[in-house]
Amino acid sequence: MWSGHPNEALVREIGSLTPGTALDVGCGEGADAIWLARLGWTVDAIDVSAKALARAEQGAAQEGVEVSWRHHGLEDLPTNTAYDLVSAFYPALLRADGSVIDTLLDAVAEGGTLLVVHHAHVDRARALEHGFDPDDYVRHEDILAALAPIDWTIEQAGESARTAPQGPGAHHHTDLVLRASRKVTA
Ligand SMILES: C[S@@+](CC[C@H](N)C(=O)[O-])C[C@H]1O[C@@H](n2cnc3c(N)ncnc32)[C@H](O)[C@@H]1O
Repeated sequence: MWSGHPNEALVREIGSLTPGTALDVGCGEGADAIWLARLGWTVDAIDVSAKALARAEQGAAQEGVEVSWRHHGLEDLPTNTAYDLVSAFYPALLRADGSVIDTLLDAVAEGGTLLVVHHAHVDRARALEHGFDPDDYVRHEDILAALAPIDWTIEQAGESARTAPQGPGAHHHTDLVLRASRKVTA
């Protein structure tokens, strides 16, 4: 559901970074990608939903900003590109694809930033009632565990309150925020 507002944690965590290249993973209707582009980031935004991307494209046109909207999943990201910022808000990445975390991490350039945010305290029983099993998806702690200290500096990891939007996500009041930077090799 289009709100047009970027996620709060994106604004808080990234607002002071110098713009460069960015990848928004699972961009949905594009508010984060549009916000980044307005700040001067060169943004590629990917999502598997053509419907979401169509709305995102419309939103960008209304705002007069350019984003490269790409209709594919993270698993089909070209391997030869790395970004100064990779952000993934509430990504629904299937665990069955064993390499998806590597693909996410490999997309961050040396010196670049990874920002991953999930909902905290997910009620599995409630999710199952809605036909969705959280255990099928990559968890926040899976990504945290994959960040080898030799390659990454964890800058932020923990819970953070968020202003829940109206609509389907209204019961999610807390974010799990992970911000890390990839070390530059000598
Ligand atoms: C919960 S929504 C979050 C959308 C947006 N990031 C936000 O904060 O509003 C998850 C999004 O991930 C997309 N998605 C699901 N699987 C994906 C994949 N393998 N690669 C990229 N995007 C995916 C969905 O289509 C959906 O738009």
